[in-house]
Amino acid sequence: MTTVGYVHGYSAHETRRLGDQADTLAQLLHAGTTYPAGSRVLEVGCGTGAQTVHLATSSPDAHFVAVDVSDASLAQARSRVAARAPWAQVDWVRADLHDLPFADAEFDHLFVCFVLEHLPDPARALAGLRRVLRPGGTVTVIEGDHGSALFHPDSSYAHAVIGHQVRLQSAAGGNALLGRQLQPLLTGADYADVVVEPRTMYADDTRPTLVDGFTRNTFIAMVESVRDEALAAGLTNRADWDRGIADLHRTAADGGTFLYTFFKAVAVNPGAGRPS
Ligand SMILES: C[S@@+](CC[C@H](N)C(=O)[O-])C[C@H]1O[C@@H](n2cnc3c(N)ncnc32)[C@H](O)[C@@H]1O
Repeated sequence: MTTVGYVHGYSAHETRRLGDQADTLAQLLHAGTTYPAGSRVLEVGCGTGAQTVHLATSSPDAHFVAVDVSDASLAQARSRVAARAPWAQVDWVRADLHDLPFADAEFDHLFVCFVLEHLPDPARALAGLRRVLRPGGTVTVIEGDHGSALFHPDSSYAHAVIGHQVRLQSAAGGNALLGRQLQPLLTGADYADVVVEPRTMYADDTRPTLVDGFTRNTFIAMVESVRDEALAAGLTNRADWDRGIADLHRTAADGGTFLYTFFKAVAVNPGAGRPS
């Protein structure tokens, strides 16, 4: 089963990109996320297990259940975690997050990273997920927001290719500008105590690991992957596309800089006594 509207697809290139992204950003995104020994944590939309490895590293004694709609991704996730976090306690389940095969309040915590941005109705998804979270349990949601990309040298061509990716993701039913909406989404889905932290990734010559791992292998790779779709949709022409990508690569070359903000939200399921 594949996910309708998952703009990035399930290619080997995408698997590598998600792995690079998770490894490069692990400290930035996972700082502050640890779960007590014995707690039951549901990772929603685990993909190829890129975040699962870091979850299990930070919380080696928690018990994880990781779900995704893609069988192929789950198989890769299982291998990745077996190789990189062999101590991890993870059950792998193929399921649609809108129709989870779990009892009410079965989990102490939920973790949802880079998933809502691909869903046509993230508000409905968050409200539905609350069913499997026990009262008092937390949900952690992490999303990017492509509107937050700032770079040097600046280039209208580079901004244009990012805009094409945003439009294509939107046409596929998603939203690449979702990070800024996490607080109203969670509040609207009846979660309480919503706290959103912007977490900014900044790369320049003094941080070559981030230039490579994030600017080049995560962000530019993601934009590059929609080239054929952008051309086929008539959003751009080859010359403008190539210029935009070349200009993005200049931000990862000597003297270039790149900044991008992720949004990390934590909220609580207030249970039956939630505020009206
Ligand atoms: C961008 S990937 C993120 C994977 C992982 N969370 C990470 O950060 O590396 C989005 C994942 O959400 C999954 N997904 C999308 N819609 C889903 C749904 N309705 N139910 C379960 N998983 C879904 C996709 O199959 C894909 O693996």
